[in-house]
Amino acid sequence: MPQDKFIRIDKSLVCKGENALFSIYYPTELSAQMECLIEKGAPLVEEKRKVVTSKKSLYILKIDREQYIEFCELQNSLKKKEKYEENTKKLYTKATSVIAEIYNNPETLGGYEKTKDVVNDLVHNILDDNFSMRSLMKITTHDFYTHTHSLNVSVYALSLGVHLKLSEKELALLGEAALLHDLGKSKIAKEIINKNGILTDEEFSKMKKHPELGFHLAVQMGIKDKNILYAIRHHHEKIDGSGYPSKLRGDSIPLFARIVGLCDIFDALTSKRSYKAAMSTFDALRLMKTDMHNHVDLKLLNEMIKMFK
Ligand SMILES: [Fe+2]
Repeated sequence: MPQDKFIRIDKSLVCKGENALFSIYYPTELSAQMECLIEKGAPLVEEKRKVVTSKKSLYILKIDREQYIEFCELQNSLKKKEKYEENTKKLYTKATSVIAEIYNNPETLGGYEKTKDVVNDLVHNILDDNFSMRSLMKITTHDFYTHTHSLNVSVYALSLGVHLKLSEKELALLGEAALLHDLGKSKIAKEIINKNGILTDEEFSKMKKHPELGFHLAVQMGIKDKNILYAIRHHHEKIDGSGYPSKLRGDSIPLFARIVGLCDIFDALTSKRSYKAAMSTFDALRLMKTDMHNHVDLKLLNEMIKMFK
């Protein structure tokens, strides 16, 4: 069989899968003739894999070239996907511990510097590749804790921000606002924050102080950007003016507060609590559209729905 009928292939790729996708050959040392190691379609049993990988160089028939290229592309995209998922998980774990630290010790400026680092990582991860955004959204935890909730809200807000074509600088500010939006909860009694059930009126009126407490803590931390400060202060305002603390209406609620507020509700609905199951993305968006249209910015909600399509 003449040598020009063969092409050399990447050894590290061919042993994947249950069966050989193409016949694999190697040049014998004595005669330099091509000898078939495994026939196309034959099962790639462990012993066969060992023999195949032990050879210095491997070849396939040129007529199998197209199939080989397709196979390599698939392998590369799977490898890329695995790498993204691994990086995303690492980022999520790092971010969760930084946020827990910030919420435990909110008065330090160091906390704000760490927040910026986390947000930069998140923004770059999301801007570098769309898949990272999807994988981040896939691994957001569905158990409700203040720090994981804050990270989830950041992931949703940044994803929505990218969808709304915000600039990189605006995304960084939005990410910081989302990450710190519930900072004031660090000053509310733990029994109220971690209560397994619906809050009483008295507990709820204490809880309602967290946006303003958060605003003052953020000022203390050295945050000067009004977009961030107002998002923290006004993320519980409602479009019809029934929210708190300032009963702002419609567009008088700052944009970042409307985005963070929307993502806050979405994460609360899709998270599991001791007294309620987690809703699916579809059910949560439907409920927001039908029952909360007086509370949330409908234009932003419609963009969020498009983002999930
Ligand atoms: Fe809140």
